[in-house]
Amino acid sequence: MKITFIGHGYVGLVTAAVFGDFGNEVFVIGHTKKKIEDLRRGIIPFYEPGLAELVKKNIEAARLTFTLDYTPAIPESDAIFIAVGTPTTKTGDADLSTVLEVAKKIGKSLEGYTVVATKSTVPTGTNKKVQRILDETKSRGAEVDYASVPEFLREGTAISDTMNPDRVVIGTESKRAQELLVKLHEPIGAPILLTDFETAELIKYASNSFLALKISYANAIAKLSELVGANALKVLEGIGMDKRIGNMFLAPGPGYGGSCFPKDVKALISIAKDNDYAFSLLEEVEIINHQARRDIVRKARKILGDVRGKKIGILGLAFKANTDDMREAASIDIITMLENDGAKITAFDPKAQDNAKEVLPKISYADDIYAVADSADLLILLTEWNEFMELNFDEIKKRMKALNIIDARNIYDPENLRALGFNYIGVGR
Ligand code: UGA
Repeated sequence: MKITFIGHGYVGLVTAAVFGDFGNEVFVIGHTKKKIEDLRRGIIPFYEPGLAELVKKNIEAARLTFTLDYTPAIPESDAIFIAVGTPTTKTGDADLSTVLEVAKKIGKSLEGYTVVATKSTVPTGTNKKVQRILDETKSRGAEVDYASVPEFLREGTAISDTMNPDRVVIGTESKRAQELLVKLHEPIGAPILLTDFETAELIKYASNSFLALKISYANAIAKLSELVGANALKVLEGIGMDKRIGNMFLAPGPGYGGSCFPKDVKALISIAKDNDYAFSLLEEVEIINHQARRDIVRKARKILGDVRGKKIGILGLAFKANTDDMREAASIDIITMLENDGAKITAFDPKAQDNAKEVLPKISYADDIYAVADSADLLILLTEWNEFMELNFDEIKKRMKALNIIDARNIYDPENLRALGFNYIGVGR
């Protein structure tokens, strides 16, 4: 099939490359000349394991074309996916201006029969709006069906998530569009759930918010475990062994971040509010998430007494491992609070350092892992990068001024570190 993706962020670019790899002819439309020129040369605007190789392979096979123009991509395509950003507005709603703008441009270029599907995360009712715009802007000869096909990939594992998802959700009222989209997704081999627009839209927000809720639940259990002297990791393991609960997304830590959970929890609260429902359960999820961040700072204050002038080394800045993404990273809040306390911060992240410099311009950045330990009074591990798993703690010991470590992701063995003389503090253990 010939398909077009509008947008080349995580969702647009990864899904386009994967559909290209399945043998489709794929166009990717962007609106920044420099980015499109880079993409044509295989330069990816963000770090995602395996993506540069997959994009290059499919450019070389002429299955992936990057362009700024809506023609010939739109008139030639069997299916078009809208995969542009929907950032949070000041009121907590999703900003739909780009989605609606793009819909107008698509409508004007449509020819023959086309399925237009939204992959961007959009509140219930948006797809009906997009459908209206397409119907109003398309020429008489063009025939269009509309669908909502939400995306469930995670950063850091985006390609394997796209190739092996737990499910594909296709929301459309048209049988013809349903058949085309089912056929397009067949190589993935995942169960397909067929729904209407509103249901597909809500599945996306409800999934992300439920996962955020699981993480906040784990953080609340971690807090309580610390208070009663239980080991939260064992408590959560015990919970997760119940198949009805499951063991994933129950890792306590510095709170969820990234471009999705914080935004989508807010948006779902806002959607509920617009419909006169107070989703206070999710408001509590947000409160616990902020507490998880503040709790790391509280632990640092407890260890150091007066934080002013103390040297703190930070291991990891990205919102999770295997990404250079700093959006809503816990590190931003935690480091800002410690800076306000007067701490001197030195940080290291294997991939996110350049992006971090834009949001945390005042701290020092180390060139290697061990340099963050130089004369440090405290080390705080914030991102669970593989590089940090097997550190040479004898070397770290030699460099640190005082042997304090807060392991905000629980990646180290407390007994080992305590045996080496460290004052080890984890989350919930
Ligand atoms: C999330 C969802 O997992 C995807 O299914 C979804 O498609 C995506 O949002 C999206 O809407 O685009 P992502 O934000 O890339 O994916 O990353 P996650 O792996 O879900 O992690 C989100 C945050 O939760 C990270 O800060 C991570 O460290 C934190 N987390 C995750 C925990 O604190 N504990 C856990 O057990 C799991």
